[in-house]
Amino acid sequence: MMAIFKASQVLTEETTFYELLKKVLKILLESSGAQRGVLVFREGDDWQIKAVGTRGSKQIELPRTMAVDSQQNASSAILNYVIQTRNSVILDDATREGLFTDDRYIIEKRPRSILCKPLFYRNNLICIIYLENNLTTQAFSPDRQELIRLLGDQAAINIRNSKLFSELENTVVELNEEIEKRKKIQLQLLHSEKLSALGRLSSSIAHEFGNPLMGVKYLLSDLVERPGLNSEDRDLIELGIEECDRMKKLLKDIGQFNKPTSGKKESISLHNLMDNVLLLQHKFLKSRNLEIKRNYRATHDEIYAVPDQISQVLLNLTINAADATPQAGGTITVTTENRDEEILLSIKDMGTGIDPAIRDNIFEPFFSTKHAEDGTGLGLSISYGIVNQHQGTLSFESEPGKGTVFTLTLPRTD
Ligand SMILES: Nc1ncnc2c1ncn2[C@@H]1O[C@H](COP(=O)(O)OP(=O)(O)OP(=O)(O)O)[C@@H](O)[C@H]1O
Ligand SMILES: [Mg+2]
Repeated sequence: MMAIFKASQVLTEETTFYELLKKVLKILLESSGAQRGVLVFREGDDWQIKAVGTRGSKQIELPRTMAVDSQQNASSAILNYVIQTRNSVILDDATREGLFTDDRYIIEKRPRSILCKPLFYRNNLICIIYLENNLTTQAFSPDRQELIRLLGDQAAINIRNSKLFSELENTVVELNEEIEKRKKIQLQLLHSEKLSALGRLSSSIAHEFGNPLMGVKYLLSDLVERPGLNSEDRDLIELGIEECDRMKKLLKDIGQFNKPTSGKKESISLHNLMDNVLLLQHKFLKSRNLEIKRNYRATHDEIYAVPDQISQVLLNLTINAADATPQAGGTITVTTENRDEEILLSIKDMGTGIDPAIRDNIFEPFFSTKHAEDGTGLGLSISYGIVNQHQGTLSFESEPGKGTVFTLTLPRTD
């Protein structure tokens, strides 16, 4: 009674299938008078030996694949008989009596007492216990048989539960995967909602900004006509007028954010575009103590592109480079070169670099590490889109603490 009571306690605590097998077999070996034992389970269409133990040795083996016909550790004739008839086999001396004296295992290993018993749960055969003793005949007395029966019933319930438990665990894992999938879809939805909200917002901003901007432009146009201006001042004012036009276009583009561009492509010089951007940002760059190095090596810098869109890309890359540089200052190097049919333009800074943890995020819309007032996180995503539309590429290399190089490639035209 104590053995059964203890066993039922130990077995109930264990919910992991393979740990449970070990405990079942150990308890059987300790209390049944067997020297060796195996547990057999169905796997798909086959029956397999899933646990093997010897009395006195602490280890219970859990073979991955060991067919009942393998004649390893148990008589396959007896196992197959029990599987087919669903009856128990109890032999007092297997080498001399019963149906299995011709079995190869019995002849070779010469086991004496054998007990082989099916375990059922609600009429389903779920496991077979096979126990043997090579030394004594009649090891499995009626008392012991009764004990094994009671232990077996208890084990059957626990085995069944642990299988249910592991099925439940699998279901939980599957459910979690499903939840993750849905979260992702929801994020994407949120993302596209954000984009369309931004679209609405920016078209109203574009409208509100457009009018005063035109006011500034007319004012400048008026100013540039005044007699007595020196040519340097006139150039600056004209630049201001051009910038007003560019801003007007930009506002229009922002208003059409996320819509295909309607900009017209033309043949332009990439060096010129870059120079314009640097000229316009001259004050800003100076205020950041930045020195600009121009390393224009490309001999063919004509591209076929929408000028203000490419300017926008160059501007964003330049501002990003400046933002990454500490207040103490540094150098931004702009390099161009020709490679095959392409022109490469790279903007290199000596700033903070990009943390490898966010490498994959920086092209995402709204991804920014800057304060809300300094960055919306749209710069790179818009640039990427523009470059794509021009059959180009935009990539970067970065070393945290040392700096970053963004490289733009565009097809060149001759
Ligand atoms: N040259 C660079 N050095 C270090 N980090 C950079 C550099 N360029 C971009 N990043 C990182 O990538 C992020 C995204 O850049 P992106 O241009 O898309 O947005 P932003 O500059 O933060 O905001 P916005 O351009 O909309 O004003 C930045 O917040 C920054 O963390
Ligand atoms: Mg930016």
